[in-house]
Order: sequence, then C-alpha cells, then structure tokens
Amino acid sequence: MSFNVYNKSSENMSEISDASVDLIYTSPPYNIGTKYKDNSDRMDVPKYQLLLKSIFAECFRILKPQGRLIIEVADSIVSGDKYIQLAGFIQSYCVELGMKVEERHINFALTKDGQELPEHNWNKNYVATTDAHSNCHQIIVLSKSNNTSFVGHGKVMYFDYVSTPEHPCPTPKGLCDFILENYYDDGMTVAEPFMGTAAIGKEVLKRKGNFIGYELDKTIFNATNEALGEIY
Ligand SMILES: C[S@@+](CC[C@H](N)C(=O)[O-])C[C@H]1O[C@@H](n2cnc3c(N)ncnc32)[C@H](O)[C@@H]1O
Repeated sequence: MSFNVYNKSSENMSEISDASVDLIYTSPPYNIGTKYKDNSDRMDVPKYQLLLKSIFAECFRILKPQGRLIIEVADSIVSGDKYIQLAGFIQSYCVELGMKVEERHINFALTKDGQELPEHNWNKNYVATTDAHSNCHQIIVLSKSNNTSFVGHGKVMYFDYVSTPEHPCPTPKGLCDFILENYYDDGMTVAEPFMGTAAIGKEVLKRKGNFIGYELDKTIFNATNEALGEIY
C-alpha cells in the first residue's frame, strides 16, 4: 500500500515508468470556468483539446499491457462559443492511440431536486446559452490491449454530484465503488491524472492498493495530500 501525489499538470507524468499502472480513473475538467480553488478552468478550446490529448497519451504510456483506462466525462460541453461532443472526442483519440473500447456506461448526474435539467445551463430544449456541460455523462472503459475478450454491457446509473467546501465536483462514492468492485483487484496500482479530492484514491488505499495522483491546484492538492496521509 502506498501513495504518491504530485502538485503539477499531468500532461507530463514522468514520475511514472512506462507500462507500470494497472488502472487509471479520470474525470477531466470541462473548460467551462468551473471555480476550483486557485486555477481557472478556462483556456482557448484548441489548447484545452491539446492538453487532454497530451494527458491521454501519457495515460497510454504508463498503462500496463493489460491495463485499463476509465474516463467519466460529460457527453457534451459548451465552452465559450464551441459545442463539443467531449466523450466522443476523448474516446476517438484513445482509439487512435491504440486502445480498445470495452464498455460504455451512462451516468445521469442528478440535480438537487432530482431533475436532469436545467442545472448545468441547458434549457428544456437542450440549448445552452452559456458555458455548460450535459447531465448525461459517459463512463468509457478502455483497455490498452487489443486482444481483450472482456466486452461487457453498458449500465445506466444515476449519481448525485454534491459540491463540498473542498471541491466543486468530487467523484460520488457510489461511482468509486462501482469502478473498484468491477475493475480493481487487490494490490493494484491506480492512477488519477486529475485527482481533485482523490475520492477514488482514498477508496484504493482503504483496499490496500497503491495510488498515484496529479492535481494542478495547490490548495486542493494540499488538502488531498493531508487527507490521503490520514488514511495511510
Ligand atoms: C473534475 S475534477 C476531478 C475531481 C476528482 N475526480 C475528485 O474525486 O475530486 C478535475 C480536477 O483536475 C484539476 N486539474 C485541472 N487541470 C489539471 C492539469 N492540467 N493537471 C492536473 N490536474 C488538473 C482541477 O483542479 C480539478 O481538481
């Protein structure tokens, strides 16, 4: 059991050797001006897309040959004046890198009153007038190997995303449990390139696994580092 976390951008994960990680879970920022603590979640769209590509190329490099990458991401976003099918963009790029899609689950993020709209700035006609992400999220399960025989069925899930004083969007506990129950074995090394509160990292440590995380925001990083230390 171990944890190693870094207060830097995960576009360069040189601290991690090639082909050394069993499982990567990530939930990327959406470039829609979400208020984290110190960083802004706002850059030119082409720069944002390049950043995501660099990070997923690094994910491919660090995964073991039989390793898995699980991405939890809003189906689509409106970032400035651009509408982007974000899940499609990321999935296509990972396939281009050589990964295989094993499963794709759907997760509807519920709003406070249990409605799906219009919490994230989409109106009832699914038109966004300002920065937005869809409530329909995809959980894309990819394997590095093209030879996997594990091709399952997609599930539909409903998880409530609750902001906390520490973070606007920690991964819900139910989603962490779903991922670890289905894709984690004892003693695995799990990485999260956008760790935030490391909701999944905390669960990995409780299951005696190894966790590696990256977080750009210093305030969030410091709080998460301390919280992981308390579990360890
Ligand atoms: C959607 S949140 C992830 C939340 C996380 N799954 C959790 O359980 O708390 C995205 C996180 O990525 C961080 N971030 C943004 N750009 C980053 C980068 N280039 N490298 C590392 N972390 C970054 C943000 O500060 C934010 O905390």
